[in-house]
Amino acid sequence: KTIAVLFGGRSGEYDVSLNSAAAVIEHLDPAKYDLVLIGITREGAWLGYGGSIEDIRQDRWHIHPSCRPSFLSPSREVQGLVELVGTEFRVTPVDVVFPVLHGKYGEDGTLQGLLELSGIPFVGCGMLSSALCMDKELAHQLVQAAGIGTPSSFTMNKNEDIEARLSEAQALGFPLFVKPARSGSSLGITKVNNMEELAAGIETAFGHDNKVVIEENIDGFEVGCAVLGNSDPLIGVVDEIELQGSFFDYAEKYTLAHSKIHLPARIDEETADRVKETARSIYRILGCRGLARVDMFLADDGRIVFNEVNTIPGFTSSSRYPSMLQASGLSYSHILDKLLELAAA
Ligand code: DAL
Ligand code: MG
Repeated sequence: KTIAVLFGGRSGEYDVSLNSAAAVIEHLDPAKYDLVLIGITREGAWLGYGGSIEDIRQDRWHIHPSCRPSFLSPSREVQGLVELVGTEFRVTPVDVVFPVLHGKYGEDGTLQGLLELSGIPFVGCGMLSSALCMDKELAHQLVQAAGIGTPSSFTMNKNEDIEARLSEAQALGFPLFVKPARSGSSLGITKVNNMEELAAGIETAFGHDNKVVIEENIDGFEVGCAVLGNSDPLIGVVDEIELQGSFFDYAEKYTLAHSKIHLPARIDEETADRVKETARSIYRILGCRGLARVDMFLADDGRIVFNEVNTIPGFTSSSRYPSMLQASGLSYSHILDKLLELAAA
């Protein structure tokens, strides 16, 4: 089978994608798969790439002499990878596309729409589900409507009178989280303790998206579930984030300097089962397919509160998603085999 792996991308999580993709490429069994690699630069150029995995990790891939302009054709007549070689177009049929992209224009349904048009099966959630999971306001509304707890919150749009709405925040009570509605790896998120910080946080978040979500703080801790499958998905061992700092921001996520991930989570079996069942429901409500990491809070009062779904979670060999599944007995390569089997157009 020919697998096209996409990496990089036009989001703030470009670097994360390089590391995730390098690990995925390393673990795809060469006896089973032929790989074609497509890097997307920060500016959005799609380049067919024939260099080393290390050059992807080190972000040197895009200056490699093998790079040539390329794209995945959305046309049914020309199905696959189209590369410009000299002055000619070369078409390589592709069996499955594996987008290892995080955030905007990779995980948010835009790319998935293109892939649906192309008719080439791809790994992960489809267009609508990807878009819903990326949007924290819409995802929360749907999950809440199904009777699952979500943090109290309100949404602001860039064209609104922000000043006039600041007082609404007070009703939720500090500390608050200010989040771009559609972002990943906590980019643009701040935890704020007073009106001054709130105003600054809103400005920061609007630097990432024109919709901002302001959420109450949940006293408790965060737990996650790795979900793998389509209609009857498998769920890995639940993990837990133990925080020492104020929240799990971008730097913390990738350095773990002041926090610790416990796998398994330090919770009893009954609670772990409840967390898994909630994750399974959320996965179904949001129409997920293939994979997702469902993040929830376990509140001090025992409630499970939805946080977010990552439809293309971090995928390095030490990332939470593969680790949770590995803890339930699947090897990293086996997870990849499963994902490719589950791929759909
Ligand atoms: N958005 C990052 C990659 C994650 O959720 O793992
Ligand atoms: Mg996320």
